[in-house]
Amino acid sequence: MRADVFTLFPQAFGWYLSQVHIRNACELGHEFRLTNYRDHTPLSHLQVDDTPYGGGAGMVLRIDVVCAALEAVFPGDAARVRDERRVVELTAKGRQLDDALAAELAQQDLVLLCGRYEGIDERVTHLVSDRVSIGPYVLSGGEVAAMAVLDAVTRKLPGAISNPESVISESHSAVLEGGAEYPHYTRPAEFRGWTVPDVLLSGDHGEIGRWRASQVRRG
Ligand code: 6GU
Repeated sequence: MRADVFTLFPQAFGWYLSQVHIRNACELGHEFRLTNYRDHTPLSHLQVDDTPYGGGAGMVLRIDVVCAALEAVFPGDAARVRDERRVVELTAKGRQLDDALAAELAQQDLVLLCGRYEGIDERVTHLVSDRVSIGPYVLSGGEVAAMAVLDAVTRKLPGAISNPESVISESHSAVLEGGAEYPHYTRPAEFRGWTVPDVLLSGDHGEIGRWRASQVRRG
C-alpha cells in the first residue's frame, strides 16, 4: 500500500510515522508520504485558505490549492486520482471509521486529505471517493483523524504486525463478532490487594481459552 497524506502540518506526523509498526510496514515495501499543501500553492504569499462565501467565522482551505497539491504529486487531472486509489477527506461529516472500513481501505493505495480551519471547500467532493470521520465529535483538524485511519489500516497490512495473532483476535475484529477483546493481565500477580483471575495462573490452557471466550463482550 502507498499512503499519501496532504496536510498543512506535516510535522504533526513525525512521532507517529517513526513508530515501529510503520517502519516494519515500510520495510515490507509499503510507503507513507507527506505533502504540505502550502508547498504547492499557486497563490502568492503562500496563501492556502480564504474567508467563507456568505460570511461567517473561520477560514476555508481553497479547492484550487488542494488540486494543485494533488497534481504536484499525481501528474494529470486531480479529479482522476480517485480512479486509481481511495481519496479520503477527513471530516467530522464523514462516514464513521470502523474495523470493516479500515480493512476495506487497506486493500488500495490511499490519499488522505486533511482540512484545517472550517475545513476544505465543499467542491472537494469532486476529488474524493470517501469522506471519513473518526467519531461523533469535532476535532480542530484532520491530522489526528488521519493518524487514526493510518494506524487502523496499517494494522491490517499482512506482515506489518510482528504477531499476526494479535491482529486477528484483536478488539472489534470480525473474529470477535464486533465484541471487545478479553482482558489482559501481567506481573505482579497481586498488587495492593488487586489480584489476577486464578485461572490465568493455572497453566491449564483449555480452561484459560474457555475463560477468555467467556470474557469477550458481544456488540
Ligand atoms: Cl476526520 N475531522 C474533524 N475535523 N473532526 C472530526 C473528525 C475528522 N472525525 C471526528 N471529528
